Parts: sequence; structure tokens; C-alpha cells
Amino acid sequence: MKITAVVGSPRGMRSRTRKLAGFVLAGAEEAGGMVDIIDLADLQIVPCTACESCSLDGMCVFADDFSAAYDRMLDADGLVLASPVYVDNISGQMKVFIDRLADAMHYQTFAGKYGCSVATTRVSGGDAVTGYLNHVLNYFGVTAIEGMSVALGDDPEALDRAEAAARDLGRRLVRAVRERPRYPDQEAGMAERRECFASIVREGWIRDE
Ligand SMILES: Cc1cc2nc3c(=O)[nH]c(=O)nc-3n(C[C@H](O)[C@H](O)[C@H](O)COP(=O)(O)O)c2cc1C
Repeated sequence: MKITAVVGSPRGMRSRTRKLAGFVLAGAEEAGGMVDIIDLADLQIVPCTACESCSLDGMCVFADDFSAAYDRMLDADGLVLASPVYVDNISGQMKVFIDRLADAMHYQTFAGKYGCSVATTRVSGGDAVTGYLNHVLNYFGVTAIEGMSVALGDDPEALDRAEAAARDLGRRLVRAVRERPRYPDQEAGMAERRECFASIVREGWIRDE
């Protein structure tokens, strides 16, 4: 079983969000999962230009680092989305990546996977960001088991204090992949959206005048 984290901070190895995601992956490893980390800081991914190619035939027109990252996500059983809070929202890097995943949304290529979201922030916005990222997971057909955010403030120990809970989240994600718990509310929302996504595949989603 593989658990793959996508980290949306531009700060690479200095990223505290990456460290938090690493704790989650460490827990997943303890529970028997194989782990993978896609750090968007290492990748060159251009923004979606709404050409609609992906919604019509599942293919993106850009040949950048996106498709290899997408394949690694497809190969995973569990997904962790991790972003720092930037002006009360996800980072631009994470948003660009999510927009490029429109094909995964429309064709529901991640359906049946389980996932969770984590965020770090200085003061606020962490829960809003994990709530949003879990909502995005649902858009992909992924059942979200939980979100966890850490407000770091000026406390250099805040992240380390979150390690035990983050590892536990990773262990629970592995357990969810194995035991496939049901979340009726999420399932209902995902079923409703599936028809909308199917109509986009049939007709495209941008109707120019
Ligand atoms: C452009 C930018 C915007 C930010 N916006 C917020 C914010 O709205 N609220 C907040 O509490 N912290 C904000 N922060 C602080 C980051 O969320 C915080 O430092 C986070 O832990 C950085 O994670 P990283 O080390 O993984 O990049 C912002 C930081 C940057 C660089």
C-alpha cells in the first residue's frame, strides 16, 4: 500500500508544512505503508490555461513536471495534501497544481482512494485550508478522513509538539485504506458531483458566447 503526500510550500526542505507532512508519512510507514512525497518546490508546473483539452480527452497539452507527479498520485492508495496558509488560503503553488488536476476531477481517476489534509500557519486560517483541501479531495472522489492544522506563532517547538498527532493521522490513514470506513455525507456529495463532472466530459465546461 502506498501513501503519497503533495506538499505545496515553495520552501523545499526548510518548509514546516513539509515537516508536518513528513510526520504523517512516518506514521503511515509505522503502520506498514510505503510512502512517497511530491514536493512542488522541486517541480516546474505551469498554470492551467483553460484550453479544455483535459476535460475533453483526458490529456494535458503541457509537457512539464505535472504528468509524472500525477502518475505518482494515481499509483497511491492514500493521498495527503499539505499546504502552508497564504493570505487565508492555500499557496499559489498548490492552487496551480490542483487546477492542473481538473482531468482527475472530471474523470474521477482517484475515486476510491482515502486521504487527509494538513496545513501550517503563523496564526490563523489553518482549519479553513484543511477544510478546503479535504473538499478538493472529495472533488477527486477521495474520501477525506480528517484535517490537521498547526498554528506555529513564534514557538519553535509547536511543530514538534504536533508530531505525535500527525503520526497518528498517518497510521489512521493506512487503517482507512485497509478497512474502507464509510462516510455517508461525503459519499452523497461525491455521487451528486459525479454527474456534473460527466456532463463536463460530454460537453466541455467553458461555453464561449
Ligand atoms: C505569502 C505568505 C502569506 C501568508 N499568509 C498567512 C496568513 O494569512 N495567516 C497566517 O497566519 N500566516 C500566514 N503566513 C505564514 C505561513 O502560513 C507560515 O509561515 C507557514 O508555516 C509557512 O509554511 P512553510 O514553512 O511550509 O512554507 C503567510 C506566509 C507567506 C509567505
